[in-house]
Amino acid sequence: MSGNLFRTKLCDLLDIDYPIMLAAMAPDVSDPALVAAVSEAGGIGVLACADKSPEEIRDLAAETRKLTGKPFGIDVALPIKADTLSLDFHEALAQADLPEEHVRLRDEFMAANAIPYVDDISKATPGLSSIAAFKLGYELGKRQVETILDIAPALFVSALGDPSFMVAEAHRRGIKVMSVVGRSKDAGRVARGGVDAVICTGTAAGGHSGAVDGTVLVPQVAELVAPTPVVAGGGIVDGRGLAGALALGAVGVWVGTRFIASQECAAKPWYKQHLVEADDMATVRNRWYTGKTTRHLEGAWDKACEQSGLEPLDMPAQGICVTPMTLGAVEAGEYVSSGIYCGQGTARIDAVLPVAEIVSQMIEDARAILTEELPQRVQLN
Ligand SMILES: Cc1cc2nc3c(=O)[nH]c(=O)nc-3n(C[C@H](O)[C@H](O)[C@H](O)COP(=O)(O)O)c2cc1C
Repeated sequence: MSGNLFRTKLCDLLDIDYPIMLAAMAPDVSDPALVAAVSEAGGIGVLACADKSPEEIRDLAAETRKLTGKPFGIDVALPIKADTLSLDFHEALAQADLPEEHVRLRDEFMAANAIPYVDDISKATPGLSSIAAFKLGYELGKRQVETILDIAPALFVSALGDPSFMVAEAHRRGIKVMSVVGRSKDAGRVARGGVDAVICTGTAAGGHSGAVDGTVLVPQVAELVAPTPVVAGGGIVDGRGLAGALALGAVGVWVGTRFIASQECAAKPWYKQHLVEADDMATVRNRWYTGKTTRHLEGAWDKACEQSGLEPLDMPAQGICVTPMTLGAVEAGEYVSSGIYCGQGTARIDAVLPVAEIVSQMIEDARAILTEELPQRVQLN
């Protein structure tokens, strides 16, 4: 038995050394380089492909396979409703028929903050949320799933929706299936559909996150879906988070924000710097970037929206409306207004580190907490 052993059921399920998953983060944050780095470090990387065409997914998977022989996953957002808008941004903008008052709110905000209108979406930087979100509403999912079944990665993850319809075929091809949920009702449904594990993200999570705290959600879902294993996400940035997740009933962790602040991540230096500097009150959760609730750094855009008296539009219209502002905010150096997605755990990140160091430190610290700190701190007889 190796002294580095830290195995759970998740390690057996995915054939990995450590129960640490890189959360999928679109657009282009969980890319081949970051995915391979996490898989090589002993966890498992999950490619963010929610906004990618089938052809792009094939290329990204091939690139990842060149970088690592270890298992990796692919994540897409399964469509909930049929879609009618184009995947081309300008066509979608014309079709979306945005309400005048929302366009006025955005335009006045841009004028007041010297943010230019930029509609060239090829200028998107990794993590620019509205870009991925405007495509999420489209009927891409079925074609994406067919492609992923053909590629046969170790793991398929559905970010939204219910993957039950493809579980049997995935298993025939040796692919494990997991689904991300933010409330117990969805957990029960996907577990009944045969997923191999349920990923529960608590409200501390960056990006699209639910309203339920992980300390409530994880044990509740673990009991509800047993013997299906549960993976915990949201606010987990270190060994203490990993040890806590295991105590709550999870078999591993789904980690996003901590890996953005890594050397291998393609996010811009300003994105990582904001994460290093942010404190525990820096994030907010609202629908002003994508039409669904996201957790991101709070900035001038959130405040302007709050004061407007308007309600956000639904997905994908809200993402389409704000995209020219978010692209312009990057160009103007008004970075927070571009929508810096991150979890509340950002408060506990104080350096940009190599992925291997983040993983080994997490394992080492969790081991010390479980084997030394807790037995000292808790008297049991
Ligand atoms: C920049 C960013 C982009 C995200 N994009 C996706 C995505 O494409 N698919 C998905 O399943 N979840 C997405 N999420 C949510 C993450 O997968 C994960 O649930 C979350 O980051 C976990 O919380 P943490 O950031 O506190 O670790 C995103 C999160 C962030 C921060």
